[in-house]
Order: sequence, then structure tokens, then C-alpha cells
Amino acid sequence: MDRFYITTPIYYVNDKPHLGSAYTTVNADVLHRYHRWFGFESLFLTGLDEHGQKVQKAALDRGLEPQQHCDQMAEHFKQVWQQLNIDCDIFFRTTHPEHKQAVQQCLQQLYDKGDIFESTYEGWYCVADETFHTEKELVNGLSPSGRKVEKIVEKNYFFKMSAYQQKLIDFYTANFEAVQPAHRRNEVLGFLKQPLQDLCISRPKSRLQWGIELPFDSDYVTYVWFDALLNYATAIDLQSTLPSQTPKQKASAEDNKNSQFVRGRFQDWWPVAHHLVGKDILMTHAIYWPCMLMALGIPPARVVFAHGWLLNKQNEKMSKSKGDVMRPEFLSSLIGVDALRYYLVKAVVLGSDSPISTDLVLSTVNTDLANTLGNLLSRVTKLVHKYFDGQMPAPQKSPVSSEEVQLQAHALQLPSVVRENILKLKPHLAVGEIIKTLELTNPFLENQAPWKLAKTDLPAAGHVLATVLEVLRIAGLLLQPVMPQKSAELLCRLSVTDLSFEAARKWGQIPTSSQILQGPALFPRVQLPDTDVS
Ligand code: MSP
Repeated sequence: MDRFYITTPIYYVNDKPHLGSAYTTVNADVLHRYHRWFGFESLFLTGLDEHGQKVQKAALDRGLEPQQHCDQMAEHFKQVWQQLNIDCDIFFRTTHPEHKQAVQQCLQQLYDKGDIFESTYEGWYCVADETFHTEKELVNGLSPSGRKVEKIVEKNYFFKMSAYQQKLIDFYTANFEAVQPAHRRNEVLGFLKQPLQDLCISRPKSRLQWGIELPFDSDYVTYVWFDALLNYATAIDLQSTLPSQTPKQKASAEDNKNSQFVRGRFQDWWPVAHHLVGKDILMTHAIYWPCMLMALGIPPARVVFAHGWLLNKQNEKMSKSKGDVMRPEFLSSLIGVDALRYYLVKAVVLGSDSPISTDLVLSTVNTDLANTLGNLLSRVTKLVHKYFDGQMPAPQKSPVSSEEVQLQAHALQLPSVVRENILKLKPHLAVGEIIKTLELTNPFLENQAPWKLAKTDLPAAGHVLATVLEVLRIAGLLLQPVMPQKSAELLCRLSVTDLSFEAARKWGQIPTSSQILQGPALFPRVQLPDTDVS
């Protein structure tokens, strides 16, 4: 069976989840659900990056021990993801003892191999980004992200990233799809034209205590990115493949059974990983991470997909530091969870930046869901009740119009179109196609006017309604991964019991005379509250 392993970045716990992190997580969830539905064995990881300076500072600001702070934030993240119906298999936390041990094993392995060495670092350091910068990288004396930098001179440990530059170029040359979209691949290859610097992977404890101690020097903890990136592999039991695992460590890993690890399956799930990340962390995922893996003797992940940013009113990245983040809880209480999921998948092209505001969200949701989908369902079920006593009308043997032939052909092609777009990691196009089909169905109903036909030819009117109900069934099935609850409600109103992808590829699956239920508006139109609290 084909396998698909999708990951989100693990989020820093210096802030509660905001719409940016919800965006990545919802899209990953939707890709995961689609793949599973298509018959893939699919694994979905999200989680938290709990070490490092930002988190240490956030805990200190709240007067809490870092671990206590992380535990509280983890509960908060879990709660929000649950509200958004995120169906992850692994909710990873980097403070788990087994992950820490595995990171230390990797560090030791690279140190023993000579891929980690000691040297003096002299240069610029940005606390907010937790990143070192060369003089050349600074922009007007600030880090490339526009934050303050300070000059430091200190002994540190470095990962010999430069030794893997050519291997990485060869990998990207041979694996065209390893970085997506294509323009991001060019960006990475462009970056690799310059000599790659070795990576400072240690922080002296005098500056940072909240991290994983270096196994070969207890005065240091490891750089948070070295710890965090490894989560994708330790979560699926990288540790069982590491040569340095002692029998005692193996036994303690066995004892330490926790749902955040998938036991003994590293070979199954690697390298089929697809890392969905924001474009801001493309380089850590497309340069540092594959070099680390290659040093450990492991092939890079199959895909790193960099999506764009949700932009604020000033067309800048929405972020906590700008103080203008939208909270997913606010939007979902306004428009409903499924409508929010729909918006985040369909209205934002995966790979591009997109402005976001409450107005934009409301307008899309009202147009696509209240008008196009919801109205169609209300109208057709009402007509079935008026003329057919709420029972599925019998379709006729031959089509009533050429418009119907076209609509049916379109609807029958839709499952393959959706599948193709999902496999290409284009969920916005997949969902866009479903809505386009419904947009064709509304004028079809209008043109065929079954309420007029019913006066002269009741079976023909029934046939038109049956056609519309079939399109709604196919659309409802295809929308399940995006809007699990609303699709279930829609399909229940049509008495649909076979929820499989195979059923979506067939026509005529609602048995004649089955009950078609009327109900309240599936997506009531949403008005902006008096005060815009976005
Ligand atoms: N902890 C690191 C990632 C380590 S992965 C091994 C990190 N965390 S983060 O909390 O800052 O989250 C960054 C991710 O959140 C982005 O890459 C992106 O997925 C998401 N987003 C945060 N703000 C965003 C927007 N305004 N728009 C879209 N996504 C954004 O970096």
C-alpha cells in the first residue's frame, strides 16, 4: 500500500496557536484525510517545539518553570486543534525524555564521526530568531527578518554542513519534487551556489539552560533547531535504527510507551515524509535538515513544501510580534469550524501569500457555502418534498437535456480531478473544482425549472431533481476531508451510506424512494458582528 507521511512544523510554545499555525495545520489535516480516503496508509504529525530561548523567556515572563509553561501550552494547543477537528496521529513534544535521548544519540554519533567539531564563533546573533548571522546577511544592521542582533564571541560546537553541500545539490538535481513549489526549489538551489557555512549547533548554558544537553560537553545545550528538526524522525522511531542505542536504552524506550512515538516503523515511514512549512522556515528544512540526515546516513525527506503567509492589513506576515494575529477560536465561533477549514484550504493558494481579514472570510464563506452549496441543497430538498413526498425521485432512462449530459460528465470526472490535485499538493485547486461543479448545478436547476416541468411532466421534473441530488452526493463525499461535520450532515440528508471514494466515482447511488430530509440552512449567512475583533 502507498504511504504518505505529512508533518507540520512543530510550533514554538511562546504563543497560543494563531491563524497562521492553524492554516498549516488545517491544510496538513486535509491532505492527510484525503490520502487516507484514497486508500493510502497515511500518518500525520504535528506538535510543539518546546526548547530554546523564546520558550525559556515566555516561561520566565509568566513566572513559571519552563516545563510547567510547556505543559500548559500543550493543553491549549491540543484544545484548539481538537476544536478545529485536527485528526493527527502524533502530537509531538520535544521535551519528552525519549526524544531528548534520541537527539543526544544523534549528536554523539556525529561527534564521534567528526561531523561535529569545536571552534570559536565570532559574529552576529539574533535572539528573537535564535539564529547566527554573517556580516553579509545583515540588512541595515538588523537580521534578515528585521530584528535586533548582538555581537558575540564564544567557544561553540559546529556541524560540518559544508561537507554535504555537493551531495545536497546532487540530491536536488536528481529529485525535482523535493522542494515545492518550483520557485522555492530555485531559491534553495540559488542559495546552494554560495559556499555553505558550517552550522553552530551549541549554546552555552551560561546563555541558555532550556535545551538538550550536549552528550560530550555538559556546559552546553544543543541549538533548538537541531533538536526540533529531529522530531520528524524520532517520532517514528529513528532511535531503533541508531547504532549507539544500548540494550538499556532500548528497554527504557519500550517501557516509555507513549502515543507520541510510532514504534519500530522508521523504515516504513521514511523517506515518504512531506514537510509542510511556512516559507520563513524553508532553509532550515531544505538545507539544515537534509544535511543532518545525510550525515546520519539517512536519505532526505521526499518533499518540503513551503507555503506562503497570511498577511495582515498592511500586507505583512501576520505575527504575534506585530500584535495583529487572528485567533482561530474567534473565527470558528463566528462562521463555524468547517467553514473556517474550508476557507483556509480553498481561498488561500497553497504556496502563495494571501491577505486575510474577517470581511474576506465572510464574503467567501457566504458566497461559496451559504449561496452556492447551502442554497442548492435547500432548494432541491424542498422541491423533492413538494412534488415527491420527500422521496428520491426515479431517474429516467435517457437524459432530459444536453446540459444534463454535460453536468453529469463533469461530476463524474470530479473525483479524479480532486485526487490528482491532492496528490500534487494543490488542495485549493481540488476544493475549487468541487465548488465550480456546484456553481454549474445552480444554473442547471434554474434552466431546467423542475417546478414548471412538474405541471406537465412529473417524471421529467423528478429526473432533474435526481440529477442535482446526485451531484450534491458526489460533492458531499468529496468535501468530507475538508468539512467532516457539514459533509456528514449533508450526506445524511440524502440518505447516503456508502462514504467511500469508490462510491463518489459512480453515478446513481441514491436508491429511488429513499428519504431525502429537509433541515435548517446548512450554512446560514454570516453577518459581521458590530465590533470587528479581528
Ligand atoms: N518551531 C519552529 C519550527 C520547527 S519545525 C522543526 C517555528 N515555529 S513557529 O511557531 O514560529 O511556527 C512557524 C510556522 O507557523 C510557520 O512556518 C508557518 O507554518 C506558521 N505560520 C506562522 N505565522 C504564519 C502566517 N502569518 N501565515 C502562514 N503561516 C504562518 O518556526
